[in-house]
Formats: sequence, C-alpha cells, structure tokens
Amino acid sequence: MSAPAPIPLSQPSLTAHEREAVASVMQSTRLSMGPALERFEEQMAEHCGVDHAVGVSSGTAALHCIVRALDLPEGGTVITTPYSFVASSNVLLFEDLVPRFVDIDPATYNIDPARVEAAITPDTCAILAVDVFGRPAPWPRLRKIADAHDLALIADSCEALGASRCGTPVGSWGDAAGFGFYPNKQITTGEGGCITTNNAALAETCRSLRNQGRATRGRMRHVRLGYNYRLSELNAALGAAQLDRLDAILKARTRASTRYHDALAPLTDTLRRPPQTLPDAERSWFVYVIELRPPWIRTHRDALCDALRADGIGCAPYFPAIHLQPFYRERFGFREDAFPHCESVAARTLALPFFAEITETQICRVVDALHTHLPTCAPESNRMPLSTS
Ligand SMILES: Cc1ncc(COP(=O)(O)O)c(C=O)c1O
Repeated sequence: MSAPAPIPLSQPSLTAHEREAVASVMQSTRLSMGPALERFEEQMAEHCGVDHAVGVSSGTAALHCIVRALDLPEGGTVITTPYSFVASSNVLLFEDLVPRFVDIDPATYNIDPARVEAAITPDTCAILAVDVFGRPAPWPRLRKIADAHDLALIADSCEALGASRCGTPVGSWGDAAGFGFYPNKQITTGEGGCITTNNAALAETCRSLRNQGRATRGRMRHVRLGYNYRLSELNAALGAAQLDRLDAILKARTRASTRYHDALAPLTDTLRRPPQTLPDAERSWFVYVIELRPPWIRTHRDALCDALRADGIGCAPYFPAIHLQPFYRERFGFREDAFPHCESVAARTLALPFFAEITETQICRVVDALHTHLPTCAPESNRMPLSTS
C-alpha cells in the first residue's frame, strides 16, 4: 500500500479568479507601478479602515519603511517582543535602533503591556508590537502607554489581516501597521507586503522609500536614501484578487480551526488548544499552534515534530525565541532565562498543518498521528503504556 500524500504545513488558497487576474496583467504592458497596485492599495485601505495603504515587496520592507519614516533618533530604544518572526526586530537593527525585549503574556503570546510600561526609559522612542498568530496585540492599552509617554506605536500585523480589537480592524492600530503576504499568510501576493496608516505624511514618505527615495512628483528627483521595495503588477493583481475572496478565505480558516478544536478535545490533558473566541477581539487565523503542557520540554516537542514529519505531516516549532537566535546571542549577549515566558512557550509550541482548503480527512489524519506519537514522545513521567495487554 502506498503512503498517503503528505499534508503541507501551509498552502495558499488559489482559484481561477487569481489566475485570471494575473493573466490579465500579462495581456498588458504595464508590469510595475500601475492600476493593479492602485486597486490593491485601495482595497487594503478599505479593509483596514484607514486613509492610506502602500504596497511593498515584503512584510519586512513594510516594517522597515515604517521605522525609517518615523525618523526615530539613532540609537534609540524600541520596546518589542522576543516571541515573533525575526523580521520584527531586524527592521530596528536596519536603522541602528536598539530592540528592548520584554516578556510576553503566556496566555495570549502577545507582548505584556505591564512589562512594556515598566521598561520605558528616557531612551525609549517607540513600541513595536506584533499580532502573534493573528491574535490582536493589546492595542488599546499600548496606545494609552504610547500616548502617555509620547512614543511612536508600530504595529506588526503581518500575521493578522482581517482581525480586529474592540471592533477596530488590525491595520488601523498604531501610527502605522505592516502586513506580509508570503504564501503561508491568510492572503498572498507571492511575495509582498503593505503599510496602512492614517498619517498622510508617513504614507508619502513610505511611497518615496519604496521607490529609491524619489519625490512622489518629479520622476528622477531623489530626495532621500530609498530602496527598491516596489510590488510588481503581477503580485499586486494576485493580492487584489485574493482580497476579493478575503471573507471566504477567513471563514474557511475559522472552520478549520473549529474542526481542530473539536478533534483535539480528548487530548487537552497533554496540550493546550488556541482559544476559539477572545474576550474583546476577533482573531484572524494565521496558523494553528498547539502548546504541549509541562512537563513537556523542547526535546519532547522536537521528537513529536520529527515523528509527525516522518508520517508526512507538515509541522514546525513556531516561533523560536528571537533573542536566542545565534545572531542575537552574539550581538547582544542574550542567554537562556532572559524572558522565561517566551522561552517556555517557544520550547513547547508546535504549528500543525493549516490552510483554507484543509479537509476533514486531513485533520483526522493529523489528530490520529498525534494520538499515536504523543505517548511515545512524552516525557518519561508522562509516558503512557502503548498496550494494555
Ligand atoms: C510577525 C511577522 N513579522 C514580519 C514578517 C516578515 O514578512 P515577510 O516574510 O513578508 O518579509 C513575518 C512573516 O512571516 C511575520 O510573521
């Protein structure tokens, strides 16, 4: 009997609508900075309830443009989270800013606002928070803290398109927000990103930064150091077609999360499922991440990940702590135990296969594999007998 087809960790949701949109760009001669980008930006602004959206070549480029456009003082400190994708801190280093990590709230995986407030010093110039796994950061409290201390507030919403907090969409929190559209995201442009903001001057600067620092009027007048962070028409057309289907995609992802939630109910002594509903927020499902309960530690989680992969089930330890990455250790001297909540969660979380078109059968296969491998990978003290005979 042949092995069943592997189940990928993630997969974009692509239909004839997206293929036609990209093909129509191919019928034109306009491949960059044209009508598809304009349409994509208009749709993003509308979805996020903001005045301005600026399409760029990646989520990293979006965050970099925001950080640069805010014109923060060189050497200033930015309070941020170590439980994120590395790009959210790297963009600070691009601009010679100092990331000041504070620990997360282990219940939400988001930055802990009480720790943010306690970490503010005269060198602090901004807060950069992340909507981890599509769960909105505690934006109302962060906004209050930022206002009280006259700090910029940057939203890394790369994982959260479609989410909202207190009824206000992600993308309109913060002075500006950055989105990413790598193919594992809720919608994709292949590669791409977007800045959303209500600040007209900031949006104008980001438009200039993405296009080699050109003045937005005057073709070859370069008024600042800029980059090539442009989003091609092919990518933008794909993004616009995906945005047409955003509601349907988000609904399908929510359905998949509910299926996992129900199917994993018998395993909740061993693992924590992400909550289906949140008190004052609407999550946009980016990944489905389970947390193995103590006494599970990294080695057991990694063994489980290997066993699932050997069965053709895509999974990933997600996120690894940023401050423990070799480059951050070397540059800043970080060691274990610097941010215990972040490290404990990072050692025990595992992303399971998750995408809009995941089938009931595929979810059953993942859950069956968990039933098989959890007992054998568990810490000694938790190891269950494989057979009762
Ligand atoms: C939280 C977060 N920030 C930033 C990024 C960077 O986005 P990109 O890979 O499009 O540069 C990502 C992408 O995975 C992300 O998840």
